[in-house]
Amino acid sequence: MKATSRRNFLSNSAKVAGVLPFLGSQVFLDDSKKEKRNSHGPMKILILGGTSFLGPHQIAAALKNGHEVSTFTRGKTIPSIHKDLFKNVEQLIGDREDNLEALKGRKWDIVFDNSGRKVQWTTDTAELLKDHVDHYFYISSVSAYYPYYDTHIKEDQKLVLKIPEELEDENEKYMYEYGVMKANSEMEVMRIFGEDRSYIIRPTFMVGPGDQTDRFMYYPTQLAKGGDIILPGKERDQIQYIDIRDISKWMIHLAEKGRPGAYNAAGPGFKMNMKQFVYGAHAAFNTPVNFIKMDDYDFLEKHEFRFQAPWILDTNPKFAGISNVDISKILDSGIEYRPLADTIKDTHDWWYSDAVTEERRTNFLQAEQSMVNRQEALIKAWNEHVK
Ligand SMILES: NC(=O)c1ccc[n+]([C@@H]2O[C@H](COP(=O)([O-])OP(=O)(O)OC[C@H]3O[C@@H](n4cnc5c(N)ncnc54)[C@H](OP(=O)(O)O)[C@@H]3O)[C@@H](O)[C@H]2O)c1
Repeated sequence: MKATSRRNFLSNSAKVAGVLPFLGSQVFLDDSKKEKRNSHGPMKILILGGTSFLGPHQIAAALKNGHEVSTFTRGKTIPSIHKDLFKNVEQLIGDREDNLEALKGRKWDIVFDNSGRKVQWTTDTAELLKDHVDHYFYISSVSAYYPYYDTHIKEDQKLVLKIPEELEDENEKYMYEYGVMKANSEMEVMRIFGEDRSYIIRPTFMVGPGDQTDRFMYYPTQLAKGGDIILPGKERDQIQYIDIRDISKWMIHLAEKGRPGAYNAAGPGFKMNMKQFVYGAHAAFNTPVNFIKMDDYDFLEKHEFRFQAPWILDTNPKFAGISNVDISKILDSGIEYRPLADTIKDTHDWWYSDAVTEERRTNFLQAEQSMVNRQEALIKAWNEHVK
């Protein structure tokens, strides 16, 4: 999910559309097709994308297990992590919009479609590769479930496949566009590759080293520094995230094991609320901190404090289930989650390394909208509020 979309949708009013076009059919109800691909020698893996956030970690996990990797990009995005691994990767150049030549006449065992941004892109690559690739992994998103009226959403939830008419709110339109694009792309993969050759991966917030956004950096930077730390929301507010390295390793494992289907890709492996998250994150550092609990939703709304990754103010019923999708299937499939403190420490260390420019760090730390910059005024207002 894009940082902007996450932030933007939270400025939506809480109005709820009356009737939504739940046109999707239930998918992946038949678990008898699991464990299709039991023998796995070295695999030939194609990544559509591969140079941004997820791709380099998939490459690291794949090469570690002896697989071969090709990437397909326009050659524009430069990886900010695992750069040294790319000398061992075949880098194909083209454009999903209008140039798939480099993919023609080739064979792979697995394709990871990381760069799906249009349904047509997915249709085109799935059609082109269906007789040349065994299994298609489509990297979707939990956004495919938008609007998230239910909690503990499972993979067989019916999806909205059509944007409702007469949406006036631009942010809500964006949420529908992204979710409906992901949902229809999933359907295209299923239609073209068939249920037993398709993997639909629906990640929640992916976090960790190499993130191209700075939306997750408040806690790693501020907990490392010590001092005042804002803890937003109520004790009951659940959060979810997944370390980019855990999801990458798990996807390779899933490909090796052969268990096609749809998967919610969220962590941690237990119910975690925001307080537990912040305290767990603090375990990464040895700093004196002063937690300031801001637990009044009205105050947070009034001060336009609706998002601080991974926390989301979910008073809008359309977002009720966004941070607690069901994870029983991914748990059952062998995901291994690393401790939160490792995620925080490694993200912090990567962000302060040469991989990130000083300009980017300065922009984040001084941006008007950054919580780092806003927190002093917020704390002042909060102290007035609770006086
Ligand atoms: N980040 C999250 O928290 C999150 C959560 C849920 C789901 N997701 C999904 O996870 C997936 C992976 O995300 P990501 O951040 O690692 O990568 P991404 O930003 O979605 O993909 C970028 C990659 O695609 C390539 N690309 C972009 N346009 C292209 C085009 N027209 N033709 C060919 N290649 C093109 C880029 O290389 P070039 O620029 O060089 O072409 C780059 O390698 C995405 O589908 C995203 O929707 C992300």
